[in-house]
Amino acid sequence: MAPTTLPGGTWTLGDLTVTRFGYGAMQLAGQWVMGPPADHEGALAVLREAVALGITHIDTSAAYGPYVTNRLIREALHPYPEPLHVVTKVGADRDEQGGWPTARDPRSLRRQVRENLETLGLERLDLVNLRLGDATGPQPGSLAEPLETLVALQREGLIRHLGLSNVTPEQVAEAQTITPIVCVQNQYNLAHRGDDDLIDELARQGVAYVPYFPLGGFTPLQSSALSAVAARLGATPMGVALAWLLRRSPNILLIPGTKSVAHLRENVAGAGLALSGEDLAELDRIGR
Ligand SMILES: NC(=O)c1ccc[n+]([C@@H]2O[C@H](COP(=O)([O-])OP(=O)(O)OC[C@H]3O[C@@H](n4cnc5c(N)ncnc54)[C@H](OP(=O)(O)O)[C@@H]3O)[C@@H](O)[C@H]2O)c1
Repeated sequence: MAPTTLPGGTWTLGDLTVTRFGYGAMQLAGQWVMGPPADHEGALAVLREAVALGITHIDTSAAYGPYVTNRLIREALHPYPEPLHVVTKVGADRDEQGGWPTARDPRSLRRQVRENLETLGLERLDLVNLRLGDATGPQPGSLAEPLETLVALQREGLIRHLGLSNVTPEQVAEAQTITPIVCVQNQYNLAHRGDDDLIDELARQGVAYVPYFPLGGFTPLQSSALSAVAARLGATPMGVALAWLLRRSPNILLIPGTKSVAHLRENVAGAGLALSGEDLAELDRIGR
């Protein structure tokens, strides 16, 4: 399938064109994103199917596993086809209990960039998101110091573009006084609408918004209204949730995760659904 035939078409991140329908690799690692996948060959098959479907945006991080999803991506897809862009994030490590301790001092950020390069088999990372906040969400405070470290790594030629993750609108504005930001990756989906205003503002600026947990994450979306719309359209609830995101704003890029080739195909098909005004109004009420 040619990239532009995927639902939503394409978006340009800086100078990188990606399909708006991407793939999030996090849950390919073991339970709670620790250790190897239960089905190694199955994980490789999902990644290869993503590229076969025309997807050119894969989201990952050295922290997933740790190193597990990056190594799976490398094993499945290296040498990477020219249009494919693998997006990573830095700002947290993993501990023995599977926790995500903050790691944003210059030394830790440099190490994480190096680890992403090594495990993905790249000489330069196309796009690195600086992840702030904590597991409860964004936290206020200046991001100048960690962002300046990433700007230095960019000048050294190790990073092409910079993005932010798990941030407040104030942190986005602060970052933009320091360096261009091509995307913001925050939690957002049909039922979790805290970033509505930020999405609209970024759309006006031409900056991408990449919702993480687009399907609800570890507890996938469950809503009688969503199921009712899906039943009416003869579609799956997850497909409808993705179609709604693509319709919500042109700067939204999808990175839904799945361990299943069948779900991946189902999600691509679902994201292409045409939603009527009545469908949209019903879906809109879920998160309001
Ligand atoms: N920046 C950050 O802080 C941050 C945090 C979290 C995640 N992320 C990124 O966001 C990406 C997406 O998040 P996510 O994968 O955790 O959550 P998600 O995309 O919201 O949902 C994934 C879950 O939905 C299920 N699912 C997918 N398609 C389905 C279908 N057609 N039918 C039924 N169930 C379906 C998956 O199960 P199956 O495997 O069974 O399909 C999986 O349990 C991650 O891969 C990661 O790259 C970023």
